[in-house]
Amino acid sequence: MSVIEQLRLEHEQFRQRVANWDDLLVELESGIGTFAALRVKEEASWICDEVMLHLEREEAIVFSELQNRDQELSERLQNFRDDHIRLRQLANQMAELAWKRQLGTATNDQVQKVFKTFRWQLLDHLAREDGGLPPLLMHLLSSEEDERLSLKWQSYRPEKALPKKSLTELNGSIHAWLDDLLLRHLEALTDLNLVEARAIWQKFANALLNHSKAEDALALPVYERLGNFPEGGQPSLFSAEHKGIERMLKSLTQRLENLSPNDPSLRRKVVIGLDKYMLFRHLIEHHTLREQNIFFPILDEKASSDEKERIANALKAAQEEAERTGRKPKGDDR
Ligand SMILES: [Fe+2]
Ligand SMILES: [Fe+2]
Ligand SMILES: [Fe+2]
Repeated sequence: MSVIEQLRLEHEQFRQRVANWDDLLVELESGIGTFAALRVKEEASWICDEVMLHLEREEAIVFSELQNRDQELSERLQNFRDDHIRLRQLANQMAELAWKRQLGTATNDQVQKVFKTFRWQLLDHLAREDGGLPPLLMHLLSSEEDERLSLKWQSYRPEKALPKKSLTELNGSIHAWLDDLLLRHLEALTDLNLVEARAIWQKFANALLNHSKAEDALALPVYERLGNFPEGGQPSLFSAEHKGIERMLKSLTQRLENLSPNDPSLRRKVVIGLDKYMLFRHLIEHHTLREQNIFFPILDEKASSDEKERIANALKAAQEEAERTGRKPKGDDR
């Protein structure tokens, strides 16, 4: 694919995606907005990931190439760069508003306004680029050069570190990883493969405990200090839930220990035990929602960047340690 086609294709994808915002904007206007808040977050993160990467690639690959070939293009290219700056500012605003909306500290109206502004500025910008860039590229590049740029485009990785993940995103991805481990454990267990089931369980249990400990030790004290907790966001609730999870974790570990591969009623025991797992998953799910909707968004909003960094590092370290020691937990010699 030529770089011109690449540009056109991405522009077209962006147009289609923002065309679908109509119903989202209506929903925001009608003031319902429970689901809208989630969509808003999704769209904001799509912009941060995809649209912002596109702008960066254009600047690093297309604009700089054109400018090298023809200095007189500087001004026209500068106009495009200025558009990019404005789009980036709006994207940052959207990301911030998106989670504020989820928290209830931003109104639908604010969100709707910035989404609308972003949409028309983006469409306007794309139209001008579509009118300006392909003719220039066709005029200035041979087909081999076009090919070379296209390869560069596809292999481009942003130089600047991407904006750091928020704590909410980090916690969300760790919980998704934990849930996947739990499911894999259940797959092995229902396969009556006890060796595999135990190995995965050890890793899962270590990971979950390490994660909760890191939250209790580093995140909770900061959260407590911030005050002004919304309903369902009392600090004591989070540590109580961690204790509840830990208790269930222990009892499930005990059950797993008691299973024997030679037991003729092994399958029956496993099936009967599934109830407990569902209860456990339910408990974790609730806890995760509370963390994702209240605990971490508040930390993301109000904690200092130093504190956030320390919390993020602790969460990552806890995950890495579980990865490393998953198969040979301390104090357990089975
Ligand atoms: Fe573009
Ligand atoms: Fe968590
Ligand atoms: Fe937690």
